[in-house]
Amino acid sequence: MTTRIIGTGHYAPEHVVTNDDLAQFLDTSDAWIRERTGIHMRHIDIGEGTTAMAAKASIRAIENAGISPEAIDLIIAATSTADEVLPNTASMVQKEIGNSHCACYDLNAACSGFVYGLNTAHAFIKSGMADTVLVVGSETMSKIVDWNDRSTCILFGDGAGAVVAARDEEGIESVVMGSDGRSGDIIACDARTMENKWGARPVKNPFMIMNGQEVFKFAVRKVPEAIHELLDQAGMKADQIDHYILHQANERIIASVAKRLGVPMERFPVNLFEYGNTSAASVPILLDEMNRRQLLKRGDKVVMAGFGAGLTWGATLLTW
Ligand code: ACO
Repeated sequence: MTTRIIGTGHYAPEHVVTNDDLAQFLDTSDAWIRERTGIHMRHIDIGEGTTAMAAKASIRAIENAGISPEAIDLIIAATSTADEVLPNTASMVQKEIGNSHCACYDLNAACSGFVYGLNTAHAFIKSGMADTVLVVGSETMSKIVDWNDRSTCILFGDGAGAVVAARDEEGIESVVMGSDGRSGDIIACDARTMENKWGARPVKNPFMIMNGQEVFKFAVRKVPEAIHELLDQAGMKADQIDHYILHQANERIIASVAKRLGVPMERFPVNLFEYGNTSAASVPILLDEMNRRQLLKRGDKVVMAGFGAGLTWGATLLTW
């Protein structure tokens, strides 16, 4: 027995900010952003927030799965941009979808969050602790980036993607997860509340800071390594995989991973030109777009992989 994805959904805010819009207030250009990243535009939240987007994506995934919300016995919300410290995002999603009994918690593994969430759902299902799990990645990156810092803000967008994962004969074949906290300062953002009645912890990074070149080097080394580990576990070769659904951070990173694996770029779908980097939401948004366009056929081999702050990485190999 393993874990199959039986439904997908996504939601992105209507408001779109193009590269030209950013060039109105930043020293940047559409040409620079497209050439260095592949991004043309991004969807930006103007008031809904992480929970509302997560709930919309989740409702679509549940409808797509054709199950009752009451059939879900665990909700994992992957996010680093929760609207509230308490209660957790997953419990608020639970309320919106109409489930009043299942376990709910949030998981923060930055841009690896969705893959960590899916692998965790698999562990619950394999152990018998859950049968049907909703995993949702939702992010409002626009509220933690500094809109005066052209080296980071141009990269990010907002949105949510969700899957319903359930016990089945066929599905997840291998999983990889890891982190190296020694490189934690490469991407960082402090919590907003840093003081109490008696003292304060100095706020170093009120908005996200990132050493882009170091993240780039990490991603092009670690993602192929993680995928090789994943393939070895499953006894498969890179060219046997039909679709590589990677975290949508930078088109050049995706092209470099494809080259290192020796797999044509056509097997690496890309939608970052429309969304930018939506962190934990990027993999499930792309997965849902492919599912709804009927680009995923039963029996296809799919690899999903994420990387991000931590520095974390995670990957999943499954049969669709
Ligand atoms: N517009 C114009 N010029 C810019 C911009 C901009 N938006 N941003 C930086 N520049 C300038 C720099 O100042 C620099 O100028 P200089 O040469 O005069 O000093 C020049 O462009 C080159 O800057 P680099 O940082 O070397 O550019 P690079 O080619 O490395 O691209 C980028 C930067 C796009 C950030 C790239 O490094 C990258 O994509 N890194 C990976 C980021 C990532 O994937 N993050 C995901 C994880 S995020 C998470 O976990 C939440």
